[in-house]
Amino acid sequence: MSDSLPILGQTTRAPVPPDLDLFAAIAELKQARNAVVLAHYYQDGDIQDLADFVGDSLQLAQAAAGTQADVILFAGVHFMAETAKIVNPDKIVLLPDLDAGCSLADQCPPEAFAAFKAAHPEHKVVSYINCSAAVKAMSDVICTSSNAADIVRLFPADQPVLFAPDRNLGAWVEKETGRALTLWQGACQVHEVFSERKLLELKATHPGAPVLAHPECEPHVLRHADHIGSTTAILNAALSRSEDTFIVVTEAGILHQMRKAAPNKTFIPAPPEANCACNECPHMKLNTLEKVYLALRDMTPQIELPEDVRAAALKPLQRMLARDLSAA
Ligand code: 13P
Ligand code: SF4
Repeated sequence: MSDSLPILGQTTRAPVPPDLDLFAAIAELKQARNAVVLAHYYQDGDIQDLADFVGDSLQLAQAAAGTQADVILFAGVHFMAETAKIVNPDKIVLLPDLDAGCSLADQCPPEAFAAFKAAHPEHKVVSYINCSAAVKAMSDVICTSSNAADIVRLFPADQPVLFAPDRNLGAWVEKETGRALTLWQGACQVHEVFSERKLLELKATHPGAPVLAHPECEPHVLRHADHIGSTTAILNAALSRSEDTFIVVTEAGILHQMRKAAPNKTFIPAPPEANCACNECPHMKLNTLEKVYLALRDMTPQIELPEDVRAAALKPLQRMLARDLSAA
């Protein structure tokens, strides 16, 4: 990494020059900092286009674990950048906007979770990656939406399991695995806005269009889906299936990759109940090109974690990445 570039505190930040070519400036900074940009599918299209890697939560965690870069700029939300730091304590991890949180992580405060866990001493704890490092540190194994059912199946069928924090993903895993889980009652504020009534109207207007849905959606929406999976699984289904029109029930950012990869197909975002843009994650959308540029220029904001929490959170993450529950 070049040490000729200054590292500034947030209070000393100069503004973005008004006529700056942000794409070119970000590319230069990436090289100068030996930085990699990892972006989630829910980011704005511009950010997805400049990223070195775009993926779902599992792929991003794997990419973070495997990178040789000195700096990881995480174009996503706080728990994702925190995960990158957990697996890379010696690297600098930047999150363009530190306020980019997640309703699921927010709805699972560590103190309340500790009490929940203490009330269920016989249970193993499977936590969805959308939680804080402190909650990860209290978990036996982490999962994402692409491996949640497989991770739960790693335990013997008679092992009681706590699943946190997403009750909708947990309910879907119960259906997939045939196992009863004790669910933390959290939900994603984006995936809970989809309207079953409007989805049925859309299906009636496009009778041949498969419904592709994310398992963070509510069960009454998921029961109308032809394919349920993580953002990557939904994207792959849209590209590999022979139909030419799809109804997409997840955050609208995924449409960018769908339209890029299959310009001749039609992708219809499922509507929320209210007349709002609330099928866009307000946390993900806090990141902008300007903030990506500023983060790489000034090397702030950085993710920092207490070492004891990081080390404890690493174990369940490693179990997920290795799909190995030994010592869980
Ligand atoms: P995946 O990346 O696993 O599809 O999860 C979506 C999501 O809501 C991330 O916050
Ligand atoms: Fe969290 Fe939902 Fe936003 Fe994903 S889409 S970051 S789960 S609030």
